[in-house]
Amino acid sequence: MSSRYHEVYEDWSKDPEAFWAAAAQDVVWTKPWDKVFDADAGVYGRWFVGAQCNTAYNCLDRHVFAGRAGQPALIYDSPVTDTKKTYSYAELTEEVATLAAVLQRHGVAKGDRVIIYMAMIPEAVMAMLACARIGAIHSVVFGGFAARELATRIDDAKPKMILSCSCGIEPGRVVSYKPLLDQAIEMSSHKPSACLVFQRPMETASLIEGRDFDWAEQTASARAAGEKADCVSVAATDPLYVLYTSGTTGQPKGVVRDNGGHMVALKWSMNAVYGMKPGEVYWAASDVGWVVGHSYIVYAPLLHGCTTILFEGKPVGTPDAGTFWRVISEHKVAALFTAPTAFRAIKKDDPEGAFIGKYDLKHFRTLFLAGERADPDTVQWAERMLGVPVLDHWWQTETGWAIAANPVGLGTMPVRYGSPTVAMPGYDVQVLDEAHRQVDAGKMGSICVKLPLPPGCLPTLWGNDQRFVDSYLTEFPGYYATADAGYKDADGYLYIMARTDDIINVAGHRLSTGGMEEVLASHPDVAECAVIGIADPMKGQIPAGFIVLKSGVNRPVADIEREVVQLVRERIGPVAALKLVVTVGRLPKTRSGKILRRTMRSIADGEDYRAPATIDDPAILDEIAAALKDHGVAKGN
Ligand code: COA
Ligand code: AMP
Repeated sequence: MSSRYHEVYEDWSKDPEAFWAAAAQDVVWTKPWDKVFDADAGVYGRWFVGAQCNTAYNCLDRHVFAGRAGQPALIYDSPVTDTKKTYSYAELTEEVATLAAVLQRHGVAKGDRVIIYMAMIPEAVMAMLACARIGAIHSVVFGGFAARELATRIDDAKPKMILSCSCGIEPGRVVSYKPLLDQAIEMSSHKPSACLVFQRPMETASLIEGRDFDWAEQTASARAAGEKADCVSVAATDPLYVLYTSGTTGQPKGVVRDNGGHMVALKWSMNAVYGMKPGEVYWAASDVGWVVGHSYIVYAPLLHGCTTILFEGKPVGTPDAGTFWRVISEHKVAALFTAPTAFRAIKKDDPEGAFIGKYDLKHFRTLFLAGERADPDTVQWAERMLGVPVLDHWWQTETGWAIAANPVGLGTMPVRYGSPTVAMPGYDVQVLDEAHRQVDAGKMGSICVKLPLPPGCLPTLWGNDQRFVDSYLTEFPGYYATADAGYKDADGYLYIMARTDDIINVAGHRLSTGGMEEVLASHPDVAECAVIGIADPMKGQIPAGFIVLKSGVNRPVADIEREVVQLVRERIGPVAALKLVVTVGRLPKTRSGKILRRTMRSIADGEDYRAPATIDDPAILDEIAAALKDHGVAKGN
């Protein structure tokens, strides 16, 4: 079948408002919009202004009324706890309405923020939807972040309530969430009025009288009293959630997502981008703490009437590299969305794909990859092993859905390895040079999206329009700067090659090296530091820290390096994955004092490099290479 992509993209570009108004017919509104797009509202305009709606209603109740009451909405599959549980649409609706009533008991109302700091358990999904049901704004914090990161988010979001659980399970260890939550609340200036804690069987958290409440007790009592919260109608432009993501400093950015545009874009994407039909099973193997989890574990599959899988495990070691195939086969998954790193991990453990043959994958149609660059080797390996299309797509926390993809529902386009394919309708993607001019096909530049952004993308940062403008809209006036660099080929295929800021991508996790540098610099023996992302065959990139000690420090450097590693783990969390810290006599700098991070990265990655003409002292580059070699970075030369 030839792709209808060009025709549909053309339809959109001729009349974006008509395009999105047509897509919006698939959403149930409690009041229609006054304007599809109001260019005068918000920072760069707002979608579906004047409309009223409820996201949880569209995810749950409407399907119950439309005959999906008995269909599985959520399948929880947890190899790390040996648990499986299925919730039908009717059951999930009932759980969410009850939990929402508990939140209301605690005074949570429309517009209040609720932080969710939870493991990958069904209650985390219920928590998100319960907030959506009553118009509260959730902010999910990934479980791999430490107390200080959580505290920063508490202070920014100022939640009325925090929902948490006693623990998470990482291979080989139980991660106690409650002590981290307690520490975070102690550190933050803002204090929530209540915490609701789900006690998992593996660990019982101690509760603080008067502040902490037991999840099971509270929901049981609401159920006994027949309390269920109704869906609260909110403005399409009201925030559904705030999701913090790494910025260029230790202060994360609170990406705001609205209700109306988000539903329209995600619902549209389920068929157009992923080729899914209502009633089918969709699996995003990510975490609810990331945007992929928000969009494609929770909201999009449920908006579309699909069954979604909540998987608590890893691609390997839980128990083996066949886990993904078992889940696909057992639950009849039609599409899997994960990060390339997961496939690199599987390929490493099972290079011949021996596990694949053990499972019946007849329902499986497409593998989608995103979150980091999909290297052609991994894509081709997956194609060979699975015999289905393996489609890369590119997006960001900020956009909430694909900027570029290979749109299965519109007819798949030919795959070009290394490219996430083409811009989706909604996005006028242009590659610009420093003078803000479009570069020729094949030439690298900054990848930008001409304003306005489509529905579903961030309208602003939480409580900080100015930071939104400064971070994204100022460098290229009239455009949203993605902070990715790359090029477009003559047929409009995009190639996303690198970040233009200090963000690195570690196992599909977005991290700020600037944030890590702030932690390194806080060690009492460290005078100066730099953190760079270096190539890693499995995780894509890993952070490497370089420290210069204060003069007079004569403790063993190995001890200091260990302490620095530990400090990052304590302050940012294990997910930062900083394991390599190298002590050097000085850092390579330009004569004006700018640290030459890119040159350091080339040295670490074993690439050819030329010392920039502005370098203060070229000899220092050999010292960096030698120090890396001492630390076992074999590529250092
Ligand atoms: N809670 C607490 N700790 C967590 C955590 C969580 N939710 N998630 C990860 N961590 C910890 C890990 O246990 C690990 O700790 P360690 O240093 O003690 O081993 C550390 O954070 C780093 O985690 P990760 O980068 O995920 O590495 P890993 O070696 O545990 O696993 C992969 C590697 C590739 C298997 C894993 O990253 C993966 O499955 N990735 C899939 C991609 C993905 O989900 N991307 C998200 C966006 S789509
Ligand atoms: P996050 O906000 O965590 O989703 O990370 C977004 C960033 O990850 C993007 O800006 C890119 O740098 C990178 N990224 C995501 N998907 C891809 C992809 N398919 N190819 C290349 N880079 C990607």
